[in-house]
Amino acid sequence: MMMIQNNLDPAVAQFPHELITYGGNGAVFQNWAQYRLTMRYLSEMTENQTLVMYSGHPLGLFPSHADAPRVVVTNGMVIPNYSSQEDCERFNALGVSQYGQMTAGSYMYIGPQGIVHGTTITILNAARKYLGRTADEGLAGVTFVTSGLGGMSGAQAKAAVIAGASCIIAEVNPAAAEKRHQQGWLEQLTYDVDDAIDKMVSASERGGATSIGFVGNVVDLWERLAVRKISVDLGSDQTSLHNPWQGGYFPVGISFEEGKKMMSDAPELFNEAVRESLRRQSTAINSLAGAGMHFWDYGNAFLLEASRAGADVINADGSFAYPSYVEDIMGPMCFDYGFGPFRWVCCSGLDEDLQTTDQIAASVLRVLIDDSPKEIRQQMYDNIQWIEQAAENQLVVGSRARILYADERGRRAIAEAFNDAIREGTLSGPVILGRDHHDVGGTDSPYRETANIRDGSMFTADMAVQNFVGDAFRGATWVSLHNGGGVGWGEVINGGFGMFLDGSLDSDRRLHSMLNWDVNNGIARRAWARNPEAEFAAERAMQGNPELVITLPHHADSDLIDRTFGS
Ligand SMILES: NC(=O)c1ccc[n+]([C@@H]2O[C@H](COP(=O)([O-])OP(=O)(O)OC[C@H]3O[C@@H](n4cnc5c(N)ncnc54)[C@H](O)[C@@H]3O)[C@@H](O)[C@H]2O)c1
Repeated sequence: MMMIQNNLDPAVAQFPHELITYGGNGAVFQNWAQYRLTMRYLSEMTENQTLVMYSGHPLGLFPSHADAPRVVVTNGMVIPNYSSQEDCERFNALGVSQYGQMTAGSYMYIGPQGIVHGTTITILNAARKYLGRTADEGLAGVTFVTSGLGGMSGAQAKAAVIAGASCIIAEVNPAAAEKRHQQGWLEQLTYDVDDAIDKMVSASERGGATSIGFVGNVVDLWERLAVRKISVDLGSDQTSLHNPWQGGYFPVGISFEEGKKMMSDAPELFNEAVRESLRRQSTAINSLAGAGMHFWDYGNAFLLEASRAGADVINADGSFAYPSYVEDIMGPMCFDYGFGPFRWVCCSGLDEDLQTTDQIAASVLRVLIDDSPKEIRQQMYDNIQWIEQAAENQLVVGSRARILYADERGRRAIAEAFNDAIREGTLSGPVILGRDHHDVGGTDSPYRETANIRDGSMFTADMAVQNFVGDAFRGATWVSLHNGGGVGWGEVINGGFGMFLDGSLDSDRRLHSMLNWDVNNGIARRAWARNPEAEFAAERAMQGNPELVITLPHHADSDLIDRTFGS
């Protein structure tokens, strides 16, 4: 109940009165009657019942057993042939299905903090990979241009400053931009495109880190940067293009309010204006990329929608002209090694408890790093730095929650230490564990989480379904399986969990059993796809647990194949 309340708290949720948590359409429920009924069931149920949720609709309480999940959630699960965007809108209007995003309909959203950490890691590693920055150098002088100051995208401002870059973020909705500025997540705000550019350039020349919000259309920003031939190092986009026709992306040339009116009064005109804007945006991005900028798709379906609009973003072989952040950065550097957005919430609601958990997590990682192979040391070090600075960066909005990218060993060791601390009374209340679905093994999404799986299996969804089922019988307190999240309905299947730690030995048993599976399911699939980092992680996981047996690939000898079949 606490997690549902947090997902709908006005300080946390995007449109709480409409039961939308984030991403424009990430719903917790379809209507308030469902909310009230669900809360009643949750307050009355016993440990021998399981609440079943169909896309926000509480189907009822069903007899189960103490080891079963207390809640099983599905969102947007439809017959595959009926999974188009129009189907989504029709079923939603009929009240039979909903878009649960990832952590909205699964009660695991922890405000923008959840994404700040991932975005910081992405920007840091983008600079390492594309600009050759070393870990010690930082990002002084690096310029970064992007868009969106909404639910998740708003994290870019904070992340860019934590990473040390100088960044402009375009936001067409003045209220969203002002909100981030007032919250202190965005350092500077301007309505003038040239002023925004000048501010970024002068900060980068000084080697300073700053975030500048440009209130206006991102197309105007990109075109102005191209005309002025500004040197941009890193570029991306975080408009809500998973939802292009219902307000996720506003066309250039008209104001935000005019855009909203056009969307309802003249949807066809609006859609064509969106397509035209995407073509113009892509042309300007291509011109800056030609001058040396490194652009990546931020998992918001920018390249997908731009290509559908006829923009020049496709290579001759049919692939996208730019990588997605998962393909190049998150996939090989994090997910394949098992690092992902592990998180926890202190049920007491006390700042002191959150600080204690931060200290526990930092000391656990400091012990683990000594025993870590060189392949994952940088990740471990980044994460120790993150957790040690987390309180100072004031990331909490809503529940006392923390995100920390950790691998399977790290997640289990931290969770076990929390459980011990609850038992011993160092923490004054229980802790809820969870993660974003956007993780190692929770999500099958060919243009995002599984974008770096290249054995042909990127369009399968066995991993996410197995993840959900496997977590359910290994001790999760609740599990969820969604169609749609981030990149849109029909484009992704993703699963998640919540686990309640109360300091008991039972919690200890559950956390080891479930977290081991939750990460290693993903590692095993990634290893079978012959991702070298995952093969390494799978071998390491098996060394740490003799009961874990992963089927590993035997690499074909290319010479032998060539000799056999002719080259
Ligand atoms: N941050 C991440 O790590 C991450 C990861 C994966 C996917 N995403 C994707 O990023 C997208 C954004 O997520 P969100 O939660 O911030 O959504 P959101 O809808 O809250 O924010 C998007 C913002 O973009 C603005 N916008 C729309 N069109 C614009 C335009 N033409 N110019 C300038 N601004 C414009 C909107 O006004 C809105 O505030 C989603 O598609 C999400 O799935 C983010």
